[in-house]
Amino acid sequence: MYETLLLEKEGRIAIVKINRPDKLNALNSKVIDELEDVFTRLKEDPEVFVVILTGVGEKAFSAGADISGFPELDPIKAKEFSLKGQRVFSLIENLGKPVIAAVNGYALGGGCELAMACTIRIASNNAKFGQPEVNLGIIPGYGGTQRLPRIVGKGRALELILTGRTIDAQEAYSIGLVSKVVPLEQLMDEAKSLANLLLTKGPVALRLAIEAVNRGMEVSLEEGLRIEADLFGLSCATEDQKEGARAFLEKRKPEFKGR
Ligand code: COA
Repeated sequence: MYETLLLEKEGRIAIVKINRPDKLNALNSKVIDELEDVFTRLKEDPEVFVVILTGVGEKAFSAGADISGFPELDPIKAKEFSLKGQRVFSLIENLGKPVIAAVNGYALGGGCELAMACTIRIASNNAKFGQPEVNLGIIPGYGGTQRLPRIVGKGRALELILTGRTIDAQEAYSIGLVSKVVPLEQLMDEAKSLANLLLTKGPVALRLAIEAVNRGMEVSLEEGLRIEADLFGLSCATEDQKEGARAFLEKRKPEFKGR
């Protein structure tokens, strides 16, 4: 159904794979369009509660925006290019369902930016991260200058963006860019076990928690706390909240309905 993506479903988990392994899963306009299409559908799909995003092959999650289109970029086209990618990545960041990036190799430039738009990142031990745009005489354009400092702090982000250097999975772990590093052959099992853990939680609570963190990062502490209180209040309007408390008191596992 897609030219550049594979979509699989395992119960309530959807697995999206970027499928251009011969080009290290570089993001051309077709990939960006198809990511927008698939994530728009997954957002609305009532049967999908968690998404895993990864790359086909053993070498790359994604080696970034497809450089072959770069020579034709003029300022107007480049701005459109940037805005389009940013829109798609923001859709992923605010999907309302957890998106786990299973980073299986290179995550450079747009590939790193795509992983950063995901809710949680885990990596294989051969994964490599970086924002190498300055080597091409440009700056990151799919959110890297904004999300990297929010995730790893301004100092480390500026060092990585200005040097364009590539870091390995261990260093990515040590600066908090990824939450866990596992051998490549265990990566998908690890991603699925994390997804299954998330499936045991209240889906509305997960959605509201993602919203509280994402919106809260953009405002003052005072405003962020207000957002938290509002969404906390909303979470207490759900059947899941009643079920969660009842199950605890009755010493049994909760059965969340997502409402
Ligand atoms: N855009 C377009 N094509 C890309 C690409 C990208 N970002 N990254 C890799 N490819 C293509 C290569 O051109 C090559 O295609 P070919 O076989 O038709 O020549 C193929 O993918 C394999 O890549 P190759 O460079 O041969 O692999 P490698 O193992 O020697 O090097 C990298 C791997 C990741 C170090 C190298 O591909 C690279 O530096 N890629 C660009 C990374 C980048 O700057 N991304 C940010 C863009 S803003």
